[in-house]
Amino acid sequence: MSRIAYVNGRYVPHHAAGVHVEDRGYQFADGVYEVFTIERGRLVDVPAHHNRLMRSLGELGIASPMAPGALDVILHEVVRRNRLQRGIVYLQVTRGVSPRNHVFPDDVEPSVVVTARRGGRPSSENQDNGVTVITVPDIRWGRCDIKSVSLLPNILAKQAAREANAYEAWQVDSDGMVTEGASSNAWIVDTDGNLVTRPLANAILGGITRLVLKQLAEEQGIRVIERPFSVAEAMAAREAFVTSATSFVTPVVQIDDRVIANGKPGSTTTRLITLYGNHVRNAQLTKT
Ligand code: PDD
Repeated sequence: MSRIAYVNGRYVPHHAAGVHVEDRGYQFADGVYEVFTIERGRLVDVPAHHNRLMRSLGELGIASPMAPGALDVILHEVVRRNRLQRGIVYLQVTRGVSPRNHVFPDDVEPSVVVTARRGGRPSSENQDNGVTVITVPDIRWGRCDIKSVSLLPNILAKQAAREANAYEAWQVDSDGMVTEGASSNAWIVDTDGNLVTRPLANAILGGITRLVLKQLAEEQGIRVIERPFSVAEAMAAREAFVTSATSFVTPVVQIDDRVIANGKPGSTTTRLITLYGNHVRNAQLTKT
């Protein structure tokens, strides 16, 4: 069965899906995106993704292409047409198509692309054994809270991780504090068993997995402290892990050359993997 994509009002075969060469997403990376987890044919945490999408669009002055309900219909239709039970949906909204000029064009319609695919899940090997992360300088811009498709520093960081046989790169600010991964949020467990993760601000993306996990942990009486932590603190931490729509909760057992604790996923992280896994499995149909 061939894959189906949605492009600006039409459902088209994936191999034939394309945007105009003067789409500002292509010319300037002038656009935003969302990645949704699909479980049992359902999108997980849709309202939170919508909120973040609307915020990203608003911060960039890109018009909302349609009401959230209409977008939901398209997202679910792409999942349905691709007969996906488990996988991910990618949604991209750009400012639209217009002759190349840095200033915003007048009267432009935002472009909307939706694709879906299988996979996009943490492997059981990574969740059982944990992964290695490297540290790299955070060379990104000052608005990492916007989920922009402009990801060059992130892909350079991820490539550096790949070349070091690591799973992820933790980006480090000029004060030696970890901001986040190239495509995930970064967490540690302190000596008292509290979760520590960087507070929401312009320096990080407000991950939906981060948001949900914080709620799930607090419901279980696990304290979540939002404060910056240094690379040195992370290396000496009891446990460490990353979160994202594609990593879920993935334990980190080594940072650069330093093994964390005994080099195995810790009990808190293992508990969080189960909690988050249950959350995904219980995802409710949010179709409108
Ligand atoms: N990345 N930080 C960055 C820089 C990210 O790119 C992502 C997600 C996250 C975690 O966000 P969430 O929990 O909403 O997935 C944090 C997606 C998965 C990607 O670019 O593929």
